[in-house]
Amino acid sequence: MDVPVKTLKSGFSLPVYGLGTWQMGGRWEADHSNDAAEIAAIKAAIDHGITHIDTAESYGAGHSEELIGEAIKGYDRSKLFIASKVSAWNQRYDDVVRSCEASLKRLGTDYLDLYIPHRFPEPGIDIADTMRALDWLVEQGMIKHIGFCNVTINRLAAAQKLTANKIVCNQLEYSLSYREAEARGIIDYCQQNDVFVVAWGPLQKGALEHGGILQEMAAKYDKTPYQIALNWLISQENVVTIPKTTQLAHLEENLEALGWELSPEDIYRLTKEFQGQKTTSDRVPLDYAADIPA
Ligand SMILES: NC(=O)c1ccc[n+]([C@@H]2O[C@H](COP(=O)([O-])OP(=O)(O)OC[C@H]3O[C@@H](n4cnc5c(N)ncnc54)[C@H](OP(=O)(O)O)[C@@H]3O)[C@@H](O)[C@H]2O)c1
Repeated sequence: MDVPVKTLKSGFSLPVYGLGTWQMGGRWEADHSNDAAEIAAIKAAIDHGITHIDTAESYGAGHSEELIGEAIKGYDRSKLFIASKVSAWNQRYDDVVRSCEASLKRLGTDYLDLYIPHRFPEPGIDIADTMRALDWLVEQGMIKHIGFCNVTINRLAAAQKLTANKIVCNQLEYSLSYREAEARGIIDYCQQNDVFVVAWGPLQKGALEHGGILQEMAAKYDKTPYQIALNWLISQENVVTIPKTTQLAHLEENLEALGWELSPEDIYRLTKEFQGQKTTSDRVPLDYAADIPA
């Protein structure tokens, strides 16, 4: 299928649904035991019309990128949108450049469509240095666009002031359950400032609560609860999502979340009534203690 695309006022586009790859190729260390199945899952995603693939240098200590590199051989690179991330401890100027070069090598490509600091740089690393390195990578054609992950409004705004390039996204945990991005005004800010919110953890790692209103909506729309949950995310302006799956049945289920619309009343009800909402991420809570003053 053609995955629908959203386009910012700047002209930058992202498909509403991309493929996450956390835990493909291992967690923090490389795990080669599922290579064949994971390469097949990435190819299946591309064959089903997915073009945006999200990875990071830290996923499986680089092995996620190697699996993607293997999977995309034989596909038209220009039709794919590959995003990778530089870890918080690798964000000094020279380290950013070295990390990017290593990611490109593992992915077997000569450019990234999107390069994203995985967190705000660690204490002791100057964000200005990080942004200068990202600008240099754009100038060299090694990356096409710059994004950010897991940052507050103030940190995003501060980073934006330090780059000549538009920061095109803030990648954050956002789902029916996890509403920190809403509670802290980040969704509104991104909508007002022409930035995508790339929602990670959209299915709460497969543990999103199925019952209650999600069940009611699933029955009403003749969809599964997870299709409702994904549709609710992408129904919002500037929000796209990147679920991870290695199972064909899950991929096919998730893609049926696209191409139809919840009614505005039901979007509102899901927003308000979904049970057990949390206003802080358990996995990557944003760091307000170290936030930059507005
Ligand atoms: N920037 C960051 O700090 C950050 C942090 C976390 C994640 N991410 C990115 O965001 C992506 C998505 O987040 P995530 O992987 O943590 O969580 P997720 O996409 O919410 O959940 C993935 C899990 O859900 C399962 N799943 C997928 N579709 C399903 C379905 N229809 N029914 C039941 N289970 C289903 C998958 O299992 P199967 O594989 O068995 O289908 C997998 O275990 C990551 O892969 C990564 O690329 C970024």
